[in-house]
Amino acid sequence: MSVNRAKLTPHTLRQRKGGQLIVAITAYDAIMAHYADAAGVDIILVGDSVGNTALGLESTVPVTLDMIVHHTAAVVRAGPSALVVADVPFAEAHFDFGDVLRSCQRIMQEAGADAVKIEGGESLAPTIKRLVSAGVPVWGHTGLMPQQVKQLGRYKKFGLTTKETAQLVADAKALEAAGCFALLLEMVKPAATKEVCAAVEIPTIGIGAGGACDGQILVITDALGLTPGYVPGFVEQFADAGAEVRKGLDGYCVAVRTRNFPEK
Ligand code: KIV
Repeated sequence: MSVNRAKLTPHTLRQRKGGQLIVAITAYDAIMAHYADAAGVDIILVGDSVGNTALGLESTVPVTLDMIVHHTAAVVRAGPSALVVADVPFAEAHFDFGDVLRSCQRIMQEAGADAVKIEGGESLAPTIKRLVSAGVPVWGHTGLMPQQVKQLGRYKKFGLTTKETAQLVADAKALEAAGCFALLLEMVKPAATKEVCAAVEIPTIGIGAGGACDGQILVITDALGLTPGYVPGFVEQFADAGAEVRKGLDGYCVAVRTRNFPEK
């Protein structure tokens, strides 16, 4: 099902700093991965947002490694040329190194992901460094880390104070030094985003972090107008797929109930 273009790698993406902007989107199954790849996105993220989108959970916290492996394998089966990255779910990255490595091994060997994404800052850098030296490409994720929502109490913006901005810069530098090939910045005040982007030589990919990044990522259901409930204010809706799906299903119901399908 793959479109005819060269497979993206962490190495080629890393070289995009300051160059062609990086387009990333989430996907959780083979069909959406197919469409995302055909559109030419650079990164397909099997995000733990699979929890609050496809699985109807209230946050990303209940998402397990088994769920990530299951959905990543489906995305990989689409054969995308885009880089397929999967989230290391809640708490996994904080276990002993052997356990973290085993989680990444399942994500890469069993599910077939090209790389993993890990939420965390400076304190996780030593673990990330060991993963990178074990051959696991890591996409760092800082700013708002939704896996921390129970501890934070709410989803909030970061980089609102000088202290917070300095911490973001320190986190970004530590993640770069640990070997991350890119950095995701979530819900960061645009002025702070600019400082982080200038502080590192790896590409930054933003969500709700303004326009200074080297690329952008959106949750696919938000971007396509498929989310039935709350959508964050920073999201731009690029299609109204929800309305099209509803139209098709309404038509199907009518056709069956009026014996117009199957054809007489
Ligand atoms: O899980 C996810 O969808 C994410 C978003 C920030 C893109 O990590």
